[in-house]
Amino acid sequence: MNTAASRNANTAASSDRGQGYTDHLERSQRVWDRWSDWYGLSEKDFEPIRERAIDRLDLQDGDHVLDVGCGPGVNFAYSRSQIGSEGQLVAVDYSPAMVENATDRVDQYGWENVEVRQADATTVDFDEQFDAVIATLSLGVMPDAHSTIENIYRLLAPGGRLAVVDVRPAPSGPLRLLNPIIWRVFRWYANWNPENDVTESLHHVFDECELAETVFGTTAYAMDCRKSNGSDRFGGCCSQSDIDR
Ligand SMILES: C[S@@+](CC[C@H](N)C(=O)[O-])C[C@H]1O[C@@H](n2cnc3c(N)ncnc32)[C@H](O)[C@@H]1O
Repeated sequence: MNTAASRNANTAASSDRGQGYTDHLERSQRVWDRWSDWYGLSEKDFEPIRERAIDRLDLQDGDHVLDVGCGPGVNFAYSRSQIGSEGQLVAVDYSPAMVENATDRVDQYGWENVEVRQADATTVDFDEQFDAVIATLSLGVMPDAHSTIENIYRLLAPGGRLAVVDVRPAPSGPLRLLNPIIWRVFRWYANWNPENDVTESLHHVFDECELAETVFGTTAYAMDCRKSNGSDRFGGCCSQSDIDR
């Protein structure tokens, strides 16, 4: 699979998206580079909901899968177990330190069908479309999650599926009182972006989307989305010859 060659994306480059965007992205890099060595301490906390989300993608042997904001590669072993040695897993993360840790994981296990790339998920482009995309705990920290979701849609093949796990302010109940404190901590810890409304953007961009489950007092959730067959909204990704390759 030739994923190294980049195409002329019909999304604006990260640097053309305005100062607020660039500031958020640069802060993200600092924050996630800093946490990269400590991420393992909390990596198991979300493992069950992440694995259930991947299960619902119903991946098949040979599928091509994109992992968006992969961190140190927490989803790699499980995703790879679903696509077999003929499948391809491509992962992107903006933090060079996270990419290094993810690459170390790939090297440690000798996974030849996993490729990790340092890139902004909102503007990254590939010479192929994917059967499925996984975005766990990453959309909420993007500088502009709506544009990231549009890019994911573009990169998915018709009929492709997206599995999202993310966190959100408590929508109701007593936990709501803690929202201002929790989210201030999250902003500091994770560069969480309060301007993103991930669930609203998913519903807006995708042809089908449903809330699959919630945990941790409904503050963590999983959404399953699907691009309809034959859809080419947001410009499509690849020429037919790219797809046939
Ligand atoms: C909370 S971690 C999630 C890691 C992993 N997916 C998980 O489920 O644990 C968020 C990740 O998103 C990455 N990230 C933030 N902004 C990004 C962007 N614009 N493009 C790609 N990755 C980004 C961060 O570097 C970080 O590794």
